[in-house]
Amino acid sequence: MAYISPALNVMMAAARKAGKPLIRDLGELENLQVSMKGPADFVTNADQRTEKILIEELSRARPGYGFLAEEGGTIEGKDRTHRFIIDPIDGTTNFLHGIPHFAISIALEREGQIVSALVYNPATDDMYVAEKGHGTFLNSKRLRVAARKTLNTALLATGLPFHGHAEERHARMQAELGAVMPHTAGVRRYGAASLDLAYVAAGRFDAFWERGLAPWDVAAGILLVREAQGVVTDLDGGNNMLEGGSILAANDPLHPVVLKMLKGVKP
Ligand code: IPD
Ligand code: CA
Ligand code: CA
Repeated sequence: MAYISPALNVMMAAARKAGKPLIRDLGELENLQVSMKGPADFVTNADQRTEKILIEELSRARPGYGFLAEEGGTIEGKDRTHRFIIDPIDGTTNFLHGIPHFAISIALEREGQIVSALVYNPATDDMYVAEKGHGTFLNSKRLRVAARKTLNTALLATGLPFHGHAEERHARMQAELGAVMPHTAGVRRYGAASLDLAYVAAGRFDAFWERGLAPWDVAAGILLVREAQGVVTDLDGGNNMLEGGSILAANDPLHPVVLKMLKGVKP
């Protein structure tokens, strides 16, 4: 049975409440694809509404805690030792296109350490949770990273830069793919970093790497992977994922192998 702390319980209730309207929206988005106006404003509203519901619910249950949230930025709390890190919709481009692969991501940080984490895909009703020291669960089933030891049987995931990113980001990504691809069973780009990390925790992906991420993309997923016995570092092998924005998550045998390959790529 999953150990659910009172704080994680509050986070789960908030995510379920904020997730419900997103399921309705997904149906509406299918219609909006073909409208002249397009779905962009609709999605911005969905992002803001989701974040508002999450902050309202979490503040009601834990008054004084601070927030770092994608839409609203930093909200200082009276309690300087706790803050929630929130991505209201991770995988916005998928959501915008009516693809049911996106998630609400919430991490609770206590004195600078992530202690509770949740990644919830409302479209599939998959709730990934982790509590520091108590393991990772998907809908109350315990998760473990994959046991694969060889890269040629491993399925990797990454994130690709897109329009608006600097040219050097695109070039570096292409070089990284060129170095890694030929040695693996495949590389996927699913479009939601929080779920990529949840999939590593679940042993579906053997490794995931990406650059240029924000703290809310990865804060919850890092704990999901670590509590599923996986290894998470930044792409220099350090622990600066939240500020530095790069990440590599994998199982114990494959982490050093992939890190070495990616470090060998000249920027
Ligand atoms: C994005 C997703 C995507 C990643 C991008 C993120 P958003 O978050 O996590 O997988 O490649 O870098 O910005 O914008 O959908 O919340
Ligand atoms: Ca995100
Ligand atoms: Ca987002």
